[in-house]
Amino acid sequence: MKADELLDLAPVVPVVVLDDPDAAVPLARALVAGGLPVIEVTLRTATALESIERIASEVPDAVVGAGTVVHPEDARRSAAAGARFLVSPGCTPGLLDAMTASGVPFLPGVSSASEAMALLEHGVTAMKFFPAGPAGGPDHLKALGGPLPRIRFCPTGGVTQDNAPRYLALPNVACVGGTWLTPSDAVRDGDWPRIEALAAKAAALRGAP
Ligand code: 3PG
Repeated sequence: MKADELLDLAPVVPVVVLDDPDAAVPLARALVAGGLPVIEVTLRTATALESIERIASEVPDAVVGAGTVVHPEDARRSAAAGARFLVSPGCTPGLLDAMTASGVPFLPGVSSASEAMALLEHGVTAMKFFPAGPAGGPDHLKALGGPLPRIRFCPTGGVTQDNAPRYLALPNVACVGGTWLTPSDAVRDGDWPRIEALAAKAAALRGAP
């Protein structure tokens, strides 16, 4: 799978911060049942790689990836754990080399034209736009679409159910990501029906005007 194909799998990518690896599989099943198969598990917890491993082996309908890939070593370890894609908040030459070498598709983070152009020089055309809200939101992305129409973005950071349609209406936005699908109290309480309902509502955003 190429990164561009990954972007087209779902309109919304849940960004998940998981402390309890026992929650990983039921959480992933709830998201898939709600219609969101692409799941980004952030490397912000000590057990993130274990959660990725469990989802990869026990939820075949999920496409699980690693987020918050910051260090080159994160890329290698995530792919070894079964991550099918990598997402980073920004990018450096060393991280780009490591993500390329991982063999799985990746979405490097950018928040400016210069950062996007630096990646474009390496043939990267699928990127995360982060932090989307603070960096200028849909207006910024719309402006980038003029001079850089080949680049397709997944904005994350400040995206919500309510403002997602403004992003998804842009031709250079393929999907959006965010943590609103997995509220920490719902994950803690194992309230999978609530998470499935949030996912279903978000999945219905595809094609929203
Ligand atoms: C990310 O890692 O993509 C963002 O931190 C998610 O941001 P959100 O919590 O505003 O959705």
